Amino acid sequence: MITKPKGTYDLYGKKGKETVALRNFIEELMDKFNYEYIKTPLFESSELFHRGVGDTTDIVTKETYDFVDRGDRNMTLRPEGTAGVIRSYIENKMSNDASVPKKFWYFGPMYRYERPQSGRYREFQQFGIEALGSNDPMLDAEVISVATTLFNMLGLQGIKVNINTLGDNESRELYRNALLDYLRPHIDSLCDDCKKRFEKNPLRILDCKVDGDNEVLKNVPKTIDYLNESSKKHFDKVLKYLDALEIEYNIDTSIVRGLDYYTHTVFEIEASVEGFGSQNVMCGGGRYDNLVKTLGGPDTPGVGFAIGIERLLTALEFEEISLTDDDSIDCYIMPMGDEQKEFSFALLSALRILGIKSDIDYLNRSIKSNFKQAERLNAKFAIIIGEKELEEDYLTVRNMQTKEEEKVANEMIITYLFDSLMDNEDLCDCGCSHDHECDCDDCDCDK
Ligand code: HAM
Repeated sequence: MITKPKGTYDLYGKKGKETVALRNFIEELMDKFNYEYIKTPLFESSELFHRGVGDTTDIVTKETYDFVDRGDRNMTLRPEGTAGVIRSYIENKMSNDASVPKKFWYFGPMYRYERPQSGRYREFQQFGIEALGSNDPMLDAEVISVATTLFNMLGLQGIKVNINTLGDNESRELYRNALLDYLRPHIDSLCDDCKKRFEKNPLRILDCKVDGDNEVLKNVPKTIDYLNESSKKHFDKVLKYLDALEIEYNIDTSIVRGLDYYTHTVFEIEASVEGFGSQNVMCGGGRYDNLVKTLGGPDTPGVGFAIGIERLLTALEFEEISLTDDDSIDCYIMPMGDEQKEFSFALLSALRILGIKSDIDYLNRSIKSNFKQAERLNAKFAIIIGEKELEEDYLTVRNMQTKEEEKVANEMIITYLFDSLMDNEDLCDCGCSHDHECDCDDCDCDK
């Protein structure tokens, strides 16, 4: 048997439905926030990620899926979405668009060659946003608020926003020097990769997975202590805007993020859901005021985040939140024999076009097993079409909840179904319409 690659998964059934529903939910939310959809290629030239995400990051040095295409070009499956969006922004000259800031959202698969574990995959999906063209701290707060609004509207509890700042270029340089001074006497205790990072990019030492428990790294200087005045002011304003939106946060000076492009605000949002495990960071993001320029575009500030869809779905599952409560269909059509199939098939098509969620028997089942199938599909109505029905121009409609059957003239079927489906919404689980004293055990009426 050919099996799926390690670290990947097949999406179908309940999880497939939940993912589609979540994407629809996000799409509607993004419309309210006035963010526009963008899709960039799943693979890009390798150089984009080397320059964008950073040559010394774990993502680029250890985790990319690289390949040489048939035209001898070095390509990489995208490990994240930001670099591609910025490439597109520059290539399509979107900075000429007067409607700055340009605000985008995307949703799709990303690829990282990581050690698979719960909540960590080699192919995973991200919902991300990128807002380009303004360095107003209000936009940093807005970006964070998009994530918290989404989590709140979904009904997630225990959301924790952890925030830090790296400051502007000048502050980052001051910090870099302080970090080098601090680490120099301890360099021998660092892993081989970190020894190289010390020369090339000391900030990356702080998110080293090997040196994570090294005592030396527990007392490193904090970025927040090396901010110049304007960086301090930017961060204070971000916090004020978060206060204005009543978004609670925790200043976590250990957050530096594992990608090179960040300046100023960096943040991570975790779900403190019981049983969720160690991979509980659902959202990571921050400001990246140098990235557009680094990738050859005009000097343009930016800020964004990405949310791991698998982790978000797991959090929803743990909190027993479902976005697809209604797994019923409106109508199930049962042709009793071959002669009734063409008529039934045409009726099925007509119902679907009118927005009535319908299906049909494709297996020539007996009437008994057809009713079982109607129950399995959670059909509200079953339409039985036999010889007699066709001869006399009527259909037999069974209300699957009340088990009552009615003969409905062909030309009245649509009106009948629309009316009945509306009435049916008023029925409780047992099929009674809440208006009488029902004594069955299943009844959810207030008697
Ligand atoms: P990131 O922190 O690398 O940031 O990823 C964001 C989120 O994607 C993580 O918090 C996590 O939920 C999810 N994620 C990352 N790797 C995996 C994995 N192997 N398996 C499952 N989920 C994963 C970025 O990707 C930046 N581009 C975010 C950003 C946008 N910054 C500014 N704009």
